[in-house]
Amino acid sequence: MDTTASAMPTGFRLWDPEEDDVLVCRAVREETADVKTFVFAPRTRRQFVFDPGQFLTFEFEIGGETIHRCYTISASPTRPDTCAITVKRVPNGPVSNWLHDEFKPGMMLKATGPMGEFSWTRQVSASNKYLLISGGSGVTPMMSMTRSAYDLAEIRDVVFLHAARTPADIVFEDELAVMSRRNRSIRVAHVCEADAPGRGWSGLRGRLTLGMIEAVAPDFREREVFVCGPSPFMKAVRALLESGGFDMGRHHEESFNFEDLSAGEKQEVEVATDEMAPAARTFRIEFAKTKRVVECPEDMPILEAAKRAGLRLPSSCTKGLCGTCKSKKVSGDVEMTHQGGIRQREIDAGQILICCARPRSDVVIER
Ligand SMILES: Cc1cc2nc3c(=O)[nH]c(=O)nc-3n(C[C@H](O)[C@H](O)[C@H](O)COP(=O)(O)OP(=O)(O)OC[C@H]3O[C@@H](n4cnc5c(N)ncnc54)[C@H](O)[C@@H]3O)c2cc1C
Ligand code: FES
Repeated sequence: MDTTASAMPTGFRLWDPEEDDVLVCRAVREETADVKTFVFAPRTRRQFVFDPGQFLTFEFEIGGETIHRCYTISASPTRPDTCAITVKRVPNGPVSNWLHDEFKPGMMLKATGPMGEFSWTRQVSASNKYLLISGGSGVTPMMSMTRSAYDLAEIRDVVFLHAARTPADIVFEDELAVMSRRNRSIRVAHVCEADAPGRGWSGLRGRLTLGMIEAVAPDFREREVFVCGPSPFMKAVRALLESGGFDMGRHHEESFNFEDLSAGEKQEVEVATDEMAPAARTFRIEFAKTKRVVECPEDMPILEAAKRAGLRLPSSCTKGLCGTCKSKKVSGDVEMTHQGGIRQREIDAGQILICCARPRSDVVIER
């Protein structure tokens, strides 16, 4: 990446995770009882470049384990000196709870990215009418896109529809109200399932319905629709839009659980591997720490072979994007086709993404 942009004031550089992947936490903000925003800056003054809706992959050292997780940047690219993520506490989840309980301003994390395609600047070429539908923590990419449209005073007609459990769970409520009051082309509506203790809810109530979508965006069939939230929520929204005669070619969605989206691709892998010629070579994959050995055909990703053998290994996207399955290769050769989830210097240091690495010899992995 060219880290010196000629249009920038002298001395300003762009953040490049290849060069310095460490981000320092500058602030932690409580949004709701179980959602916090973490604001980051590079160690030396550098600016972030990303499309609103993209995510970063962070590396955590928790309980002696290295764990990777992706978080969408909730901040707007129009304020490039810092970036921020907004994290919802997931019951028993190791990383979200560690961030909420232990992570403080001044602490540092390694990060790669930005990555991802879920952005109106990447997926839509000629439209200025949008319906952004989110549930729970799925609000983050919508917030980044809306903040950016507001800051740039773009001519975009945005309907921001967010579903929360109760009014106390609405993230960014005040900021959204200010943006929509000052920019009439941003309209915001919330749907709540129930009242909060001490705060009743007189707005749209219950689970999201087609009637509610029609009420907040009567012209929704003319809009590009972006959806993000828990898997059952996204499935329900898909069904609602289809039942309303929406052209699903203009429907865009992101899951915070990559496995949802890669199910189709996995099926293809299984079909391909099941039909593999019996003559395909098979290699021995040894997991050094757990002392497990699996056989892996040369055309099968190592992660897939390990899963079939009953091993539980960290993984998320299963397509070389998120970095969750990054592992140290002690010996052996692999062929790897990744999509940005690993840096060149990590590859040079012997790291591989086992979800997209196929063996070319017997391999030993430090797991
Ligand atoms: C591209 C991408 C972007 C993401 N952006 C965000 C974001 O902006 N904000 C955010 O809070 N999370 C986001 N996530 C989810 C995040 O990466 C973690 O999965 C989440 O914080 C839980 O991590 P954990 O280690 O605490 O729990 P895990 O051990 O990962 O999960 C525990 C259980 O909770 C489920 N789960 C995971 N995430 C959620 C969730 N958000 N809501 C409900 N159930 C969940 C898992 O399926 C699992 O069953 C994103 C994920 C992806 C793939
Ligand atoms: S699981 Fe995402 S890169 Fe391997």
